[in-house]
Amino acid sequence: MSIFSRFLAQLRKIFSSVCVPVPVELLLVFFTLKHLPLNFLSQMRLTLLFLTFLTFSANCYKILVYGPKFGHSMSSFLGSIADTLVDAGHDVTSLISIIDPEVSDGAKKSTKLFVAQSEATGKLYSDFTKAKADFLEMNLYDPIGAYFAGKFFSKLTATQCRAVLESTVLLEQLKNEMFDVMILENFDMCGVALTEIIKPKSFIGSSSHVAFGPQLEEFGIPAFPSFDPSLSTFRMNVHSIWDRFLNVYADLLVRWSYYYMRTEIDELFQERFGTAFPSVKLIATHSAYNFVNSEPLIDFATPTVAKTIYIGGIGIRKPKSLSSDWEKILALRDKTVLISFGSVCKSMFFPLEVKRAILETIRTLSEVTFIWKYEDEDEFTINEASKVENLVLTKWMPQSDILNHPKLTAFITHGGMGSTLEMARAGVPGIFVPIFVDQPRNAAMMEYNGLGKILNKFQVSNSTKFVETIKEVIGNMSYQEKARRISAMLRKKPHTPEELVVKHVEFAAEFGEATALRPQSHEMTWIEYNNVDIVLIGILLCLFILVVCMKIVLALTRKIGKAKKKIE
Ligand SMILES: *[C@@H]1O[C@H](CO)[C@@H](O)[C@H](O)[C@H]1NC(C)=O
Ligand SMILES: *[C@@H]1O[C@H](CO)[C@@H](O)[C@H](O)[C@H]1NC(C)=O
Repeated sequence: MSIFSRFLAQLRKIFSSVCVPVPVELLLVFFTLKHLPLNFLSQMRLTLLFLTFLTFSANCYKILVYGPKFGHSMSSFLGSIADTLVDAGHDVTSLISIIDPEVSDGAKKSTKLFVAQSEATGKLYSDFTKAKADFLEMNLYDPIGAYFAGKFFSKLTATQCRAVLESTVLLEQLKNEMFDVMILENFDMCGVALTEIIKPKSFIGSSSHVAFGPQLEEFGIPAFPSFDPSLSTFRMNVHSIWDRFLNVYADLLVRWSYYYMRTEIDELFQERFGTAFPSVKLIATHSAYNFVNSEPLIDFATPTVAKTIYIGGIGIRKPKSLSSDWEKILALRDKTVLISFGSVCKSMFFPLEVKRAILETIRTLSEVTFIWKYEDEDEFTINEASKVENLVLTKWMPQSDILNHPKLTAFITHGGMGSTLEMARAGVPGIFVPIFVDQPRNAAMMEYNGLGKILNKFQVSNSTKFVETIKEVIGNMSYQEKARRISAMLRKKPHTPEELVVKHVEFAAEFGEATALRPQSHEMTWIEYNNVDIVLIGILLCLFILVVCMKIVLALTRKIGKAKKKIE
């Protein structure tokens, strides 16, 4: 890029980030020029230059981002989208419905409106908090567990959605705003149904994970469980019939547990607005685009439709240099490994024998410094963990900045999408201990790309196995090399996720839903979609031909038999 075009791009950026009406901009230009001591020709030239920039400067759109406060990944994903759009000069409102008050708002720059956690939601949510401790031991292939988890989450989201619907003044006010675009997440389907009440000119669906189960259908993406691992699958040899069977089974379980997330919202809206209210599954298919938090350079390659925009890694900020305290810790030994199991399944709730096995693992690898994110100061940390010399415990850490430090060797993580993309961008290999939701699949894609190794969560308590896995990842240079290569690729991608978000939101604001982008499959029955009718007719035809042939053969043999008898 020449210096001049870079200069132009920079100016364009500045102009499009000020969201003032064009007449005001013109007045500003006029008064600025009037007071400059310039001759007429230079003034004309400058005016022309400014006018050129003005035509480049973006229109300012009104955007609503709806999301529940439930889980860090969803909040930060939607928050990053909202902030990116504010940076691009748009008028962005975040409507945040509070399910878990402890989760951060996500958005920092947009105007924020809240729907308070209702009493009923609060009651349900306290049950969930009690259950959090058991995730490490939960079996993801247990159908009864999947059923109850699905039922519970759908009850929780529907209960809080009722509170949103009861905020009638707020909803009326939002409707009067006449938003150009509403952005929502297809996990809590309340947002999808709300598009029919708030009536934005168009809306964009999204997934803060990879798109899975029912979302695939809503986004119009064909499902291929023969080679696309389900959310709960962390190891799959596509040539093994057993692995493929397990994957189909896991996929059905995921669909089953998310089925109620749809039907409960449908029931709620139909109870309030009559049975003619369209189902969320149908509404969702009319999105202008769907944003998916996945990075095609790491994810499994699967068929998709043009309406799906992959914006994995949005919101990952530029790394800052570390404080001197952290620098000192990273200088202690040649190698440093970071441990964090995320914000939902907290380390402090792990069973004691698992925590002891982790300590044993750390003690064995005495030439490595370990930094472990541990949420509390308890008996375990005081009596046991503090005695391990090469371990640093911390309640909070600048994760992204540590990952980007050249001395950091590996990251032991649960494999949430945020952490996974952050480490890929930083070029750090991992030891993945997937616990639930999308973590098994995220871990699978990282291992498939040679960016680390998976340790089954039931084997964390086996310190021999744990040490083996860490030794392999920090000892074998192939993991470091591949991680560095991915990091370089992600930095040099043709379009940043932020650019993709801004361009597609502006396009949706101007043109709304594009009919051609919506696959006809949305209108088809299961039989039509899978060509079951053709296959059935084919089978019948084959059977018919078979019967006819047999009849002919029988008749012929009988004739030949008779002819033979005659000759005899
Ligand atoms: C622990 O892991 C080691 C190494 O993979 C294995 O040989 C051993 O059988 C495992 N122990 C248990 C109790 O699973
Ligand atoms: C390093 O890991 C790669 C990929 O897993 C493997 O192919 C290679 O054999 C390993 N090298 C050594 C020396 O273990």
